[in-house]
Amino acid sequence: MMNAIQVSELTKVYQTAKNQPPLHAVDNINFTVHAGEVFGFLGPNGAGKTTTMRMLTGLVRPTAGNASVLGLDLATAITRIKKQIGVVPEMSNLYDELSAFDNLVFAMQLYGVPRAQRQTRAEELLARFRLSEKRDAPFAKLSRGMKRALTIAAALAHRPPLIFLDEPTTGLDVMSARNLRQMIAGLRKEGVTVFLTTHYLEEAERLCDRIAIIVKGRIVALDTVENLKSAAQTKTLVELTLADANNCIETRPIEGETVEAAARAALAQTDGRRVLAINTLRPTLEDVFVKLTGLKADVMLIEKGGKGGGNAGG
Ligand SMILES: Nc1ncnc2c1ncn2[C@@H]1O[C@H](COP(=O)(O)OP(=O)(O)OP(=O)(O)O)[C@@H](O)[C@H]1O
Ligand SMILES: [Mg+2]
Repeated sequence: MMNAIQVSELTKVYQTAKNQPPLHAVDNINFTVHAGEVFGFLGPNGAGKTTTMRMLTGLVRPTAGNASVLGLDLATAITRIKKQIGVVPEMSNLYDELSAFDNLVFAMQLYGVPRAQRQTRAEELLARFRLSEKRDAPFAKLSRGMKRALTIAAALAHRPPLIFLDEPTTGLDVMSARNLRQMIAGLRKEGVTVFLTTHYLEEAERLCDRIAIIVKGRIVALDTVENLKSAAQTKTLVELTLADANNCIETRPIEGETVEAAARAALAQTDGRRVLAINTLRPTLEDVFVKLTGLKADVMLIEKGGKGGGNAGG
């Protein structure tokens, strides 16, 4: 199957000020996004996530390197690429005064969706993003979560096989973020390829088939969550849960060369108490992140200023 995105030695250097060294916002990165997968770009503030996305969607010119998007060459075919992808930037690009419905119809007009299909398609998108009730409400009057959902709906107006989402759930409350994640998971079921950037480890873990961890413009790891965890795990751990005669419960981790050895070691330490459970312990994605980046996991929770505030509902 064709790759949805193939990136080779992509680099963006900004010359910020005359007396400052140039900033390598994106520093010689390589990766491939498979058709049909949800691919996560996970990294802290300033890592280069948005810059990468802006290069791949034709909003910023790479300083060096190249990419192919949907089999088309970024350097020469950007106009054709733009017609075939959906893009949801951090800040919505919809019109405040237009209703939810009209915003969708307008997006379809821009993408050349035939007039006869626009109405039906707009109603379908509203229903799917649970916005039918808000059909005639101006965009400005929607809640933050609804705005985000409508912006994604508009990016899907022309049924793109590939969609880019820049931090789709940042600034949303827990419920809205959860709803949006369900919608993103739904896209995957339909076979849409999703490239998404996020700060949230948990979001990446739940939604993404594969994750690239990006720090200071470089990809420090790229794999499935399972493989990242296996790579980060140096020893096998099991967790032994015991209950004594008074039903006091104790839980302790026990190491071993293999799961079997750890379990055997655990069973040798029961002191006659009842064994309630022996579970294999796996590192969390947070453990993986800390190990690979040397950063604390809470760097990911730092909210950015001037982005509309709100709670970081992870
Ligand atoms: N137009 C620009 N001119 C100069 N520097 C820029 C420009 N755009 C981005 N940068 C710098 O490039 C680096 C990467 O920024 P980018 O927006 O790609 O990060 P990000 O991973 O999206 O961060 P965030 O999580 O905060 O959105 C940052 O140091 C940023 O200040
Ligand atoms: Mg960004």
